[in-house]
Amino acid sequence: MRKMISYLAFLAGFLVLGTAHAADDIATIKAEIEAIKSDPERYQAVIEKGREAADFCQLCHGQDGNADKPGVPNLAQQNPVYLTDQFNKFANGEREDFTGVMQSLVNTLEPEDRMALAMYFADTSLKTLPYDSVKAKAGKAHFQRVCSICHGADGLGKEGYARIAGQRQDYVVDTLKMFRDKDIGKWRSRESSMMTAYVTGMDDQTLEQLAHYITSLGEGIIAD
Ligand code: HEC
Ligand code: HEC
Repeated sequence: MRKMISYLAFLAGFLVLGTAHAADDIATIKAEIEAIKSDPERYQAVIEKGREAADFCQLCHGQDGNADKPGVPNLAQQNPVYLTDQFNKFANGEREDFTGVMQSLVNTLEPEDRMALAMYFADTSLKTLPYDSVKAKAGKAHFQRVCSICHGADGLGKEGYARIAGQRQDYVVDTLKMFRDKDIGKWRSRESSMMTAYVTGMDDQTLEQLAHYITSLGEGIIAD
């Protein structure tokens, strides 16, 4: 009987895990990061470990997280919970990149290295990038009405919601198209139940205006 009860308890736990998986992941990552940050010495050691591990990443993302290659996202000042969560998504195949680089890389990293890298890049400074001010202004109202609900009025995001302020336009355009069209012919795939609803049916012009506005947010909220 006791065996039966523990089996049922196990099964119930398993079912709960299945449905609340994503939220659980985010909460667990957040708690671990907060624990590290609450101990200044440990935090410094983790950042240092991340800096060393970042040598290879700089080929594409830049040593300081400012990418200078098309299609590669800036990691500088990104929120560390989001970064760690994306690592896990590359690892479990939920997210695929066009060259497979991120997926193969992630599997060579231990979970604590992933977190150290995320915390290192979160601690770097994002450089501002040029944008088209006419397009940026045209994208502002839509962003503030819709996208700000999760990413914040300033685009800084939090926890599982990416910081998008100051991100590269080319990367943002490709990413929004991936969420909208699934297949963009570049062997990349990414899905998000939250994002899809907000880009379904969006025309390319709106998408581009939003991307310019998002880049402009690297300087703070621009005037109309
Ligand atoms: C050969 C180039 C290359 C190298 C090297 C590389 N990356 Fe990437 N990385 C990319 C590309 C391209 C993407 C975007 C993939 C996509 O969305 O299709 C990406 C995406 C990411 C993302 C998701 C960011 C977001 O905003 O969602 C993280 C996190 C990341 N990389 C971390 C790293 C780290 C840490 C390293 C070093 C251990 C690294 N990458 C090395 C090319 C690279
Ligand atoms: C209901 C919440 C929600 C809303 C509203 C929302 N997003 Fe997102 N967004 C997310 C989440 C969650 C992610 C991370 C998805 C994942 O895990 O891959 C994300 C990811 C992104 C990314 C990718 C960031 C990166 O570094 O790869 C971009 C770009 C983005 N959103 C832009 C937008 C824009 C533009 C809008 C408005 C049209 C918008 N979002 C509205 C929740 C939201």
